[in-house]
Amino acid sequence: MKNITLDTSKAVQFLPAGTVESYESRVKAAQEALENGTCEGSDFLGWLHLPTEISDEFLAEVQAVADTLRSKCEVVVVAGIGGSYLGARAVIEALGNSFAWLVNDDRKNPNILFAGNNIGEDYLAELTDYLKNKKFGVINISKSGTTTETALTFRLLKKQCEAQRGKDEAKDVIVAVTDARKGAARTCADKEGYKSFIIPDNVGGRFSVLTPVGLLPIAVAGFDIKALVKGAQDMEKATGTDVPFAENPATQYAAVRQGLYTQAGKKIEIVANFQPKLHFIAEWWKQLYGESEGKDKKGIFPAACDFTTDLHSMGQWIQDGERSIFETVISVETPERKLDFPADEENLDGLNFLAGKRVDEVNKMAELGTRLAHVDGGVPNIRISMPQLNEYYLGQLIYFFERACGVSGLLEEVNPFNQPGVEAYKKNMFALLNKPGYEAESKAIQERLAQEA
Ligand code: PA5
Repeated sequence: MKNITLDTSKAVQFLPAGTVESYESRVKAAQEALENGTCEGSDFLGWLHLPTEISDEFLAEVQAVADTLRSKCEVVVVAGIGGSYLGARAVIEALGNSFAWLVNDDRKNPNILFAGNNIGEDYLAELTDYLKNKKFGVINISKSGTTTETALTFRLLKKQCEAQRGKDEAKDVIVAVTDARKGAARTCADKEGYKSFIIPDNVGGRFSVLTPVGLLPIAVAGFDIKALVKGAQDMEKATGTDVPFAENPATQYAAVRQGLYTQAGKKIEIVANFQPKLHFIAEWWKQLYGESEGKDKKGIFPAACDFTTDLHSMGQWIQDGERSIFETVISVETPERKLDFPADEENLDGLNFLAGKRVDEVNKMAELGTRLAHVDGGVPNIRISMPQLNEYYLGQLIYFFERACGVSGLLEEVNPFNQPGVEAYKKNMFALLNKPGYEAESKAIQERLAQEA
C-alpha cells in the first residue's frame, strides 16, 4: 500500500541552506516529549497512539450503533461544533457525492446534516422545516456537554424528534457522544436512556476525529471506518519517534513550516485543494492548527482556498500581494470517477485541443501551472499528494496533520493542546445573556457598554 507523500522542495528553496536540518535536534526533543508525556499539555496526548489502540470490537460497536441509525433514519443530524464536528464533516464531504443533498431517489444512506455549529435563527428554522415529516435521528456531540451552540440546537432537535416519533422511538435514534461523567449532555443521555459513547478525557476536541466523535457519523454516512483507522495506524507508524527526521513526513512538514515562519517571515499558510470535496478537510485543518498554535501572541495564521475556484478571487492576492504567505496544496493523484472531454465537430468553443483528455488532466495542468506561477511570485509551496480520495488515505492524512501539529506547536514553544482564547467570547456572551452564575460579569459588561455608548 502506498503512503501519502510530502514534497517540500519548492518551499525549502526560500530558506537559507541548512534551515530544515537545523531543526533536527529540536524535532527529536519534541517527538520524545510527546512520546514520554513530558511536554506542556501532556494530559491531552491520548490522540498520539489512538489509532493503534482502537480495537476491532470497538469499531464493531460503533458500526452497530451506526447501522441502527441507518436503518431507522432517512436523515441524521450531527449536532456539534469545532472539534466535535469538523472532522466528521471533512471525511463525509470528501467521500460523499457532491450533490448528496439532492440525490434522494435511490438513497442507500441517510442524509447527514450538520447543526449546532452556529446560532443562526434562519438556519435552525429552515432545518426544523426540512425535518418536518422526516424520520430523523440525532447524534449529539459535545465533550464538555455544555457548549451553547450545540446544547441549544440539541434541545430543539430533541423536542422535534420526540414530537414526530414519540419519546420511546426517539430514544432509539438519539445518540450522545460526550464525557464519561460530567456535563449536561451526559446527564441527559443517562436520564433519557440514550445510547452513548465516551470521548476520552485525554483527547482534545480537535484531535478527536478518530474517536466516536468522527467515527460514528462517518459510519452512519456509509463509509468504511476500519479503512480510515487502518490509514491512521499506518501513518502513526510512518511518523513515529523511531523514524529518522529526514524520512518522517510529519516532522519535515513541521520543521519546514516553522522555518518559513521564523526565517522567511511567512506568517500565513494557505491550505489549497484542487478538489472541491476537500473544502472541509481544510476547515478541519484550520481548527487543528489555529487552536493549537495561535497563542502567546504567536502562530502561523491558517487560511484555506479552493482551487481553481479561488484563483478567480484570491489568485491575484496570492500571486502579487504582500509576500507573507506560503501554500500547502493537497493533491489527489487519481479521481474516483472518469470523465473524458468530448470532441465537437464545430468546435465553436475552441476546446478541441482538449478532446479525448480526462477532465483531471486539465485540472492537473492547472495545478502545476499554479504551482509554478506562485513559486515564481515568491510563494513557497508544499505539496501533499494522496494516491486516492478514499477512507484509507484520509486516515493517513488526518494522523499526518495531527502528528505534525503536535511537533510544530512544541517547536513554536506553545502548549498545542489547550485553547484558553476561545473562552473570552463565551464569558461575554453569558454575561450579556444573564446566565446564572455570571452576575458579576453581567454587571461589569453593562457598565462598560453604558460607558462606551
Ligand atoms: O478543539 C476543541 O477543544 C474545541 O474546538 C471544541 O471541540 C469545541 O469548542 C466544542 O466543544 P465541546 O465538544 O465541549 O462542545
